Amino acid sequence: MLLGVNIDHVATLRNARGGKYPDVTDAAVAAEKAGADAITVHLREDRRHIKDKDVRDLKEILYVRLNLEMAATDEMQKIALELLPDNCCIVPEKRQELTTEGGLDAAGRLDRLTEFVKPLVEAGIVVSLFIDPEREQIAAAEKTGAQYIELHTGRYSEAFGTKEEEAEFQKLKDAASYASLLGLGVNAGHGLNYENVHRMKEIENLNELNIGHNIIARALFTGLDTAVKEMKDLVK
Ligand code: PXP
Repeated sequence: MLLGVNIDHVATLRNARGGKYPDVTDAAVAAEKAGADAITVHLREDRRHIKDKDVRDLKEILYVRLNLEMAATDEMQKIALELLPDNCCIVPEKRQELTTEGGLDAAGRLDRLTEFVKPLVEAGIVVSLFIDPEREQIAAAEKTGAQYIELHTGRYSEAFGTKEEEAEFQKLKDAASYASLLGLGVNAGHGLNYENVHRMKEIENLNELNIGHNIIARALFTGLDTAVKEMKDLVK
């Protein structure tokens, strides 16, 4: 399984003092050297962590794939078509949320998302839709023309170690096999950490995990190099 390292919270720390440090591109290079297969950043509408310049700088310097998470807005589509990241992951976005709370309603917004995804795919970007592990959403995602889905693992992560864990895990497993049957590539992420990530290996057809907060949090104590290497060892 591949590991995409989300470095949004390096920018959160930087922005706390409004200066240049910690430098987002330095973090990306360190993660890349430690074995990250992709660098993921979420350019939010309010630019609370990653800024436009960060995405431009990363596009210039990365050897590995740049995965741009963004909402399905005209502004974000324009930015993606200008910068041409390797991957785009389309996420729902609410201004007040602390982080991405649920998956996209691909079924409810099928026409809009189809229209949104088309030019991105035509421009050569590999597009995924961040959705909950539900068949209705997966079937809709396939209809939009996106090549991948990213399964929201937030509920599994919260349920880990409780009696709900198995049910949430099975939802992810079933969703991954249904998506593969439809010909979709499958990624996953959100809330994964060093304790709960190992079960992702039980899911066939998972291509890549996108993990951010927990890696950056651990890096405070171990350094980013070790934090990424340890996660990479757990997922490979
Ligand atoms: N995948 C998506 C689509 C996300 O929005 C996020 C959070 O930005 C992640 C993965 C990573 O989540 P976490 O920071 O909890 O590892």
